[in-house]
Amino acid sequence: MLRKQALLLVNIGQLLTLHSVSGKVGPRRGRELREVGIIHDGAVLCVGGKIVSVGTTRAALRDPWLNKSRRRFLEIDCRGKVVLPGFVDSHTHPVFVHPRLVDFEKRIEGASYEQIASAGGGIRSSLEAVRAASSSELTEKVSDFLRQTASYGTTTVEAKSGYGLTRDSEIKSLKAILQTAIAWPGTVVPTFLGAHVVPKEFEGRSQKYVESVCKDMVPVVARRKLARFVDVFCDKGAFNGREMEQVFEAAAAHHLEVRAHVCQLSPTPLAPFLRFHPASFDHMDHVSDADISTLAAHDTVATLVPGANYFLGLATYPPARKLIDAGVPVALATDFNPGTSPTISMPMAMSLACTHMKMLPTEAISAATINGAWALRLADRKGSIEPGKDADLAIFDVRDFREVPYWFGANRCYRTILNGTILPEI
Ligand code: NIG
Ligand code: FE
Repeated sequence: MLRKQALLLVNIGQLLTLHSVSGKVGPRRGRELREVGIIHDGAVLCVGGKIVSVGTTRAALRDPWLNKSRRRFLEIDCRGKVVLPGFVDSHTHPVFVHPRLVDFEKRIEGASYEQIASAGGGIRSSLEAVRAASSSELTEKVSDFLRQTASYGTTTVEAKSGYGLTRDSEIKSLKAILQTAIAWPGTVVPTFLGAHVVPKEFEGRSQKYVESVCKDMVPVVARRKLARFVDVFCDKGAFNGREMEQVFEAAAAHHLEVRAHVCQLSPTPLAPFLRFHPASFDHMDHVSDADISTLAAHDTVATLVPGANYFLGLATYPPARKLIDAGVPVALATDFNPGTSPTISMPMAMSLACTHMKMLPTEAISAATINGAWALRLADRKGSIEPGKDADLAIFDVRDFREVPYWFGANRCYRTILNGTILPEI
């Protein structure tokens, strides 16, 4: 049985609080991404799944109340390790059954993502198994994924449906996410991605499929409270801007919030969609300069997923420097999925952001924590280590926070605390 007991972490070599120096409300932009609020020799007290106080170990041990109640806390001596806010992985697709190994080999032999998709591989080739799967099979897949992400320091996960693409299989996928979330100590945010691709039975009739998403699926998702967000894959080979608008309109009519996959394979003008107040635009490889300027004046987060570029073997990556330098709020996520990014590791996404997108380690950490929280509209509870926020922390067995993206491919996470529950148990 997992315990949510009072925790006192002491002797933290570097405690990155992500406390905002300016005190400005909103996602972090530009130079703000470099402010990670370091406390040396830090301490954190968590009670009832919430952070109660944050400071130095010296100050904590001098506090008379804390000293008196000390034996009621589980005390964790961090012995100089680094503590970060738990990662917020704001873009994942965990409800699938099989890895796509044939596509993997075809790509090694030279085929592109789009060629594979139009030859019957890609997203469409994952549909049959999800449609046939039992609810418990899907629940097991999602919980395996959550267990693994936590071991890499992730405490909050956005999880999309999108590999069923019929009303029933999308409901089954979202229920698997919700069912898993109940038993999970961390936080899970479900997203409905019925508009992932046009399934085979609607081939050549994408408008009919969009109608089915808008009329048969979105209303039931909203009525049964199966998801917080509605997502759309707007790109070549998936849905166009007009179709994205229709899905956004349906979501808005049913009081669901929106986010979208955009500009991954081809450019799409984004400004017209800002009237729907999307929480996030994800991928952004082909975003235009005009849209970069426009986005700098909005709170829609640009969520970058360099794992997809890495796994597709692309030479180019999303223009993180341009976005950050223009003042667009940027988040990082894994995009965990069987086709383009089979990684559960936020430290790996951060490492790719540093090496291929020229983000500094401080910027990558802000993007993986507080801005991920903004991308899910959970920044009042998640993404920083501050009194009143959820007790979501990741302890890394390193001396310097820059080692987290530096040791790529290795897992240096020692313990993860999810809403006050420590994993693995001590
Ligand atoms: O984010 N782009 C659309 N969706 C996924 C890919 C899903 C898949 O290939 O299964 C992505 O890259
Ligand atoms: Fe995705």
